[in-house]
Parts: sequence; C-alpha cells; structure tokens
Amino acid sequence: MSELRNAGIISMGSALPDRVLTNADLEKMVDTSDEWIRSMTGVRERRIAAEGEGCSDYAVKAARLALERAKLEPDDLDLIIVATFTGDQQLPSTACLVQSALGCVGTPAFDVAAACSGFVYSLAMADVFIRSGVYNRILVIGVELLSSVTNWTDRGTCVLFGDGAGAAIVGPVESGTGMISFDLGADGTGVDALKIPAGGSKMPVTHENLDEHANKVVMAGREVFKFAVKVQSDAIEHVLTKAGLTTDDIDMVIPHAANIRIIDSAVNRLGLPPEKFFTNLEKCGNTSAASIPLALDEAVQAGKVKKGDTVVLVGFGGGLTWAASLMKWVY
Ligand code: UT7
Repeated sequence: MSELRNAGIISMGSALPDRVLTNADLEKMVDTSDEWIRSMTGVRERRIAAEGEGCSDYAVKAARLALERAKLEPDDLDLIIVATFTGDQQLPSTACLVQSALGCVGTPAFDVAAACSGFVYSLAMADVFIRSGVYNRILVIGVELLSSVTNWTDRGTCVLFGDGAGAAIVGPVESGTGMISFDLGADGTGVDALKIPAGGSKMPVTHENLDEHANKVVMAGREVFKFAVKVQSDAIEHVLTKAGLTTDDIDMVIPHAANIRIIDSAVNRLGLPPEKFFTNLEKCGNTSAASIPLALDEAVQAGKVKKGDTVVLVGFGGGLTWAASLMKWVY
C-alpha cells in the first residue's frame, strides 16, 4: 500500500426527472395549501420520476455526466458506492445495476443504507479507500426515488419529498485539499421516528398491510425536526473543530434539504450569513440521499463553490443518522 494521501471530489454530475409536481398540484390531491407548504417547509415544487423508471436510471445519468466532466471512462473506476433506500429492487444492489449499465464489469459495487446521511457516509468510505491507497477512482452516488415510497394520501409527508440523483468522483488530491474532516453518527433510539414498516424481513408485504400503506414512509415529523436542528449544527461545529477551523473560515454549507426552518436554525445558531447556505429545497423538495450531491453540483456549476473554498456538507435523517464533511474544494 502507498502512503496516506488526501482524497477529494474531482468531478460531479446530477440528474432530475422532467416532471414537476407543484404545491398547486398537491392541493388537488390532499387537504393542504401552497401557503402551508411554503411557510412550514420552504418547498414550492419537486421532481417526480415517470412510471416504470427506477433509481438506477437517474444514478446512471448522473454518473455518466460526472465521468464525462472528469474525462474518465467507466473502466477507470475502481469502486462504485450508491447511497439509497429506494433502490430499483431489494436484490441486487442499485450499485450493481449502475455498474452493469456503465459496462465496467469487475468493478466492485455496493449500496449504503444511511438514509439522508447516505451520501456523506459514502464519501467517508471513499475517503478511507483513497487515503489508504487501495483505490484511485471511486464513484459515489446519492440517489432516491422517494415518490415510490410516498404515501400520497398522507399530507404530513407527501408534500415533502422528491426524486433525483447526484454523483461524485473521488480521487487522490494535493495534501491539505479535498476532504479534511468528517463527523458521522447514529442514534438508534430513534429507529421508529422515520421508517418504512413493511417490505423487509420483519414484516413482509401482504395484501392487508399494502392497503394500510405500510410499505410507504411513516415519519414522526416533530421528533425528526428536533433531532435535525440539534445534530445539524453540532455536526458542523465538530467538523470545524476537527479541522482546526472556525465558522469564519466557511465559504459554503450544503445542508440536507429537508425543511427551510431546519436550515434557518443553523444559520441562527452558528451566526453565519444565509448566503453561506446553498439549498435546492424550493425546487426539489427533500430528495434524501440525493439532496446534498444535487445541491453541491448545482452550486459548483453556478460558480457558488469554487476551487479553494472551504465547504461543509451536512446531512441527517432516518436511523436516526447524521453526517458532515468539511472539504477544501479542488476544482
Ligand atoms: O430528510 C429526513 C429528515 N426529515 C425531516 O427533517 C423532516 C422534519 N420534520 C419536519 O420538517 C416537520 O415536522 C413537518 C414539516 C413534517 C411538519 O411540521 P410541524 O411543524 O412538525 O407540524 P405538525 O406535524 O406538528 O403539524 C402541525 C399542523 C397539524 O394540524 P393540527 O393538529 O395543529 O390541527 C397537522 O395536521 O399542521 C397540519 N399539517 C398540515 N396542514 C396542511 C400537517 N401537514 C400538513 C399539510 N398541509 N401538508
């Protein structure tokens, strides 16, 4: 094995469905209002995949774009990690479907289940593989088709979610750049706060539980909200401390897009200007594992994240889990 070296994101890509579902559309489906959704969540519209599409379709589109921008071929990849809980099928992994579509047979591929924290959890794994010299080019994807697990009769959740994918290629970078620090965590006492009860080994899908939408997301919104407000700011502070930096050093925070009030809580608690938080919440809703890479790619393309910037990614969600990463942007 070679010496420890830094790892960083060297390219990104993302993909969104064409179909837009607006708050006005939702007003026709459940007892809600555009006013409630905007003021309570910050979401105006979200993208929804077409019938027959799967998670892997968007993962592959995002991956192809990231490869093209990096001027790499699929065969250059040493590993594929996909963060999702809405994979095409329970078996095989979405990562293997992506590998098959890209045509890089032989490349190891696996999925990570850490809900909305999944992309940053996966980056942490890529970081270790690159630092230790095991691999040189790792494709990390955060993808979710939440529309497939949304209970469209539950106004407490159906107004929140959307579909999409973001992909990053991680490789060795100059010392002092790339991924500098991580803060990962989980609090399993909160397993019931955000879950899909049926469809696993404990409660297989039956006609009866399908009628009760037990194969769809169930969330104790308030409980998750309180958890998110706390861990989001704590995780940002932890990655700063580990990197020997302060909030003054941050150029951009890319928070998981769950609720604008959760993002505002970090703005207030950390005393950072709101312009230092970039989110796609208004246009995409909550896309779970995809929200951070989708927003990060958009911010990079818009020139809001530039080479040399200190960027903090922070996610939280089912598990309950959280994950943050501080990086010096490399391109
Ligand atoms: O990505 C994973 C992490 N997920 C999150 O971070 C989500 C965290 N949670 C949240 O964002 C918020 O809890 C929600 C936006 C989901 C809900 O906001 P809340 O302030 O916790 O509201 P609530 O669930 O306590 O509901 C308040 C009221 C209730 O009515 P009553 O009982 O006061 O009459 C709800 O029935 O709002 C009602 N309500 C709605 N009204 C109109 C709930 N959903 C809706 C709706 N439209 N869509």
